[in-house]
Amino acid sequence: MEFENILIEKNDRIATVTINRPTKLNALNKATIKELNQAFTDLQSDAEVRAIVVVGSGEKAFVAGADISEFADFDDEQGASLAATGHELLFNFIENFSKPVIAAVNGFALGGGLELAMACHFRIASENAKMGLPEVTLGVIPGYGGTQRLPQLVGKGKAMEMILTAAMLTAEEAKTWGLVNHVVPQSELLGLARSLAAKIANNSPVAVAKAIETVNAGFDKDTDGFMSEIRAFGYCFGTEDFKEGTTAFLEKRKPEFTGK
Ligand code: COA
Repeated sequence: MEFENILIEKNDRIATVTINRPTKLNALNKATIKELNQAFTDLQSDAEVRAIVVVGSGEKAFVAGADISEFADFDDEQGASLAATGHELLFNFIENFSKPVIAAVNGFALGGGLELAMACHFRIASENAKMGLPEVTLGVIPGYGGTQRLPQLVGKGKAMEMILTAAMLTAEEAKTWGLVNHVVPQSELLGLARSLAAKIANNSPVAVAKAIETVNAGFDKDTDGFMSEIRAFGYCFGTEDFKEGTTAFLEKRKPEFTGK
């Protein structure tokens, strides 16, 4: 399928999804969110793809937020619906995606942009990246999961400071705070993202999916994370990947996982 606002590139079992509205600093409008939903739906069923990297086009921005021009005249109901649709189509969808999604934060990640990065399974950043949730400067709060995911990543006090002051963190500060895992020069960012993705792609897709599901379960108030772990652990024993992984270890060879 042809997309207008995003680019998809597939190489060596890794898909790179580029948000491609550089003149608007890759701001997330409705069309882009829909296209991302479609792209991720396609990647889900593409057996050749084992890991996904999300990045913004250009050298300035990952994503500079939700597209402010689209919601400036919304009323309260339209606002709530905007948030709910975004959660469903993109942010919760990515968080619960069964293939690993790495955010390569290559510049400004503000508002919905940081929320997109936080919905990914982990984040790396380039030295020039700046991250923040500036919504209160617009008279609104983060609506794509930021009030929930930021405290999970950096702790409640730091999240409160970021959300209430609307201040931006530098990449190094974001690393110190635990928001990103690595910081590298911009020219090395995609290389690092893809090498991390490649390491994951060598592992059992079934186990990787179950690990994502189980880590997420611990953050779901209605789910017992330990019980989820026990069930998922048991499930793995019935898979071909488990037989292959343990057999390959005993035979002193590299496993060839099929994801079954
Ligand atoms: N929504 C819509 N358009 C946006 C946008 C957003 N979130 N962020 C940037 N843009 C657009 C600008 O309107 C501008 O478009 P124009 O050239 O047609 O006027 C273009 O992207 C370039 O942005 P500009 O503001 O000129 O770049 P800058 O280098 O001066 O500033 C930022 C960069 C990121 C500091 C600034 O763009 C900004 O504050 N953006 C909004 C961030 C925000 O509040 N996000 C949360 C939204 S909920």
